[in-house]
Amino acid sequence: MSYVRLGRSGLKVSRLCLGCMSYGDPGWRPWVLDEEAARPFFRRALDLGINFFDTADMYSRGRSEEVTGRLLREMAPRHDYVLATKLFFPVEKKGPNRSGLSRKHVLEACDASLRRLGTEFIDLYQVHRWDPDTPFEEALSALDTLVRSGKVRYLGASSMAAWQFAKALYLSDRRGGERFASMQNHYNLVYREEEREMIPLCIEEGVGLVPWSPLARGFLTGTRRRGEEPETARGRSDEFADQLYFRGEDFDVLDALLSVSSSLDLPPARVALAWLLSRPGVTAPIVGATKLPHLEDAFAALDVRLGDDAVARLEAPYRPHPVLGHDQPTPRAAR
Ligand SMILES: NC(=O)c1ccc[n+]([C@@H]2O[C@H](COP(=O)([O-])OP(=O)(O)OC[C@H]3O[C@@H](n4cnc5c(N)ncnc54)[C@H](OP(=O)(O)O)[C@@H]3O)[C@@H](O)[C@H]2O)c1
Repeated sequence: MSYVRLGRSGLKVSRLCLGCMSYGDPGWRPWVLDEEAARPFFRRALDLGINFFDTADMYSRGRSEEVTGRLLREMAPRHDYVLATKLFFPVEKKGPNRSGLSRKHVLEACDASLRRLGTEFIDLYQVHRWDPDTPFEEALSALDTLVRSGKVRYLGASSMAAWQFAKALYLSDRRGGERFASMQNHYNLVYREEEREMIPLCIEEGVGLVPWSPLARGFLTGTRRRGEEPETARGRSDEFADQLYFRGEDFDVLDALLSVSSSLDLPPARVALAWLLSRPGVTAPIVGATKLPHLEDAFAALDVRLGDDAVARLEAPYRPHPVLGHDQPTPRAAR
């Protein structure tokens, strides 16, 4: 396993991050694994050298943080792994101050995550989305407080418009506050809109990219085919995936992937991940694994070098998409 700096920060992370949205409470989503079923994935990930684990307070309504925190505590010294979580969405109960990035919610959400994770500090605390109802200066000052108090080591952000992230970086610099070290964004072979604005911004600003759903929630693995019932439990029940993928042009990209993987004699997931790992600015894709061989494929992708011809064939069918994976809230001034 190789380890790289997260953006221009000094934090070293493995080139793969294990996404822990798949672990927690099967009552939340039918494809989520419970703690016992999740244990071997953490064991194997650590054995492979993965030191970077991503969860969020909302996954399995808090249960993902509990499982992630407990299994990692059981298996490795705290200083040997990088624990990332997120805030913004409501966890168990909805209420006017139970979501968003107000100072009240940021401080309370962090304490709740620390309790569930069973740790004294979060290595990477990420804002899951932009909050159109809170001045970003307020969010930043609350996040700064967390870093200064030692509860949080680094700050990260997740899916938002590039102008919003540029504003966030500008405001933190102007205030002399803590900067965002990473951007967790939606990026894979069937969703490349981030190449237009967000990725150049992150490269220019020294922000590490940690793409989510690098295999398009399983769409880029060969277990979902045009006109056929998906083969897996997640394939049949992942409603968010239905909103994001399965367009005609996505199947054209999938066809290209299946053809390139067959000519290279490699599994499609390995080729799709190898492509993402080779893209400029990408620090560590956040892989989701519900079967142990998924981890082996992800690890093997680190050694795959795609030639120019294979890359050209993989990229050729892509057509621009609408923004998918996050809302585009109206700026406060325009409302
Ligand atoms: N910030 C955000 O807004 C956001 C949004 C989404 C996700 N995330 C993060 O990103 C992480 C990963 O998301 P994801 O689970 O959607 O990622 P993904 O890697 O795109 O999809 C994972 C799914 O792909 C299939 N798969 C993986 N490897 C495979 C292989 N080698 N062969 C065949 N199938 C394979 C499995 O589907 P089956 O289960 O069907 O076999 C697995 O559940 C999450 O855990 C979370 O940490 C963040």
